[in-house]
Amino acid sequence: MAGRVALVTGGTRGIGEAISIGLKEAGYKVAANYGGNDAKANAFKDATGIPVYRFDVSDFDAVKAGVGQVEADLGPIDVLVNNAGITRDAPFHRMTAEQWSEVMQTNVNSLFNLTRQVIDGMRSRSFGRIISISSVNGQKGQFGQTNYSAAKAAVIGFTRALALETASKGITVNCVAPGYIATEMVMAVPKDVLDKKIIPLIPVGRLGQAEEIARCVAFLAADDAGFITGATLDANGGQWFT
Ligand code: CAA
Repeated sequence: MAGRVALVTGGTRGIGEAISIGLKEAGYKVAANYGGNDAKANAFKDATGIPVYRFDVSDFDAVKAGVGQVEADLGPIDVLVNNAGITRDAPFHRMTAEQWSEVMQTNVNSLFNLTRQVIDGMRSRSFGRIISISSVNGQKGQFGQTNYSAAKAAVIGFTRALALETASKGITVNCVAPGYIATEMVMAVPKDVLDKKIIPLIPVGRLGQAEEIARCVAFLAADDAGFITGATLDANGGQWFT
């Protein structure tokens, strides 16, 4: 795997930050995409030496330009990690069209936008790893997250369909379904909801760590993981079994 190029979307914060660092430590040349937080991205770059690329994953043309820049700088992308994602939680009866559409654009349309840019190169080189981040909430559903649960279930359907199309081309397509991980996204959940409605449902009795998800991604990215495709790897502390 030494020298393979990996692009991690949303790769400067939260789970994505740990994935970028984990892949770098495993010997990949990593590019970390981010959406808008320049201060955090620059701090991440200074701390890790991983180059950062600002573009909006929900914008097809911006993605095309951004991926082109990554490939010009680092070489063809061998490993794509579709990690960028947002929440806009609200009970459905109060959800706005904007909350619905922002989650769909960032969490679902990004799968098309990114993967479409790298698939031809992966097919022509007969190697690729496409790993997308789903969620336990896309598997079991979650109060306040009809948009996010729908989007994260879509990640699984996308993964399975594309896995069939690419299986004969040396490209694997998998996803990881994290449970509740100690990141800013989860810490934004009201504390009493987290303490009373969520943590008691996690049999290991704690939130996960971003590094525990990065480990799953590195496993699926490896050259010798070629017989695993179309899979969803659950890492949720026992909260949900599939
Ligand atoms: N299960 C059952 N009931 C719940 C609930 C839950 N998970 N969450 C909230 N409720 C109930 C509340 O107890 C409350 O009931 P009462 O009126 O009887 O007291 C009612 O729903 C309204 O709750 P709020 O007062 O919190 O209402 P709100 O409108 O201010 O907020 C909400 C609603 C936005 C859904 C808020 O409860 C919330 O943010 N919940 C957490 C949603 C969540 O888990 N998001 C995950 C974010 S992390 C993530 O997405 C990463 C990942 O992949 C795992």
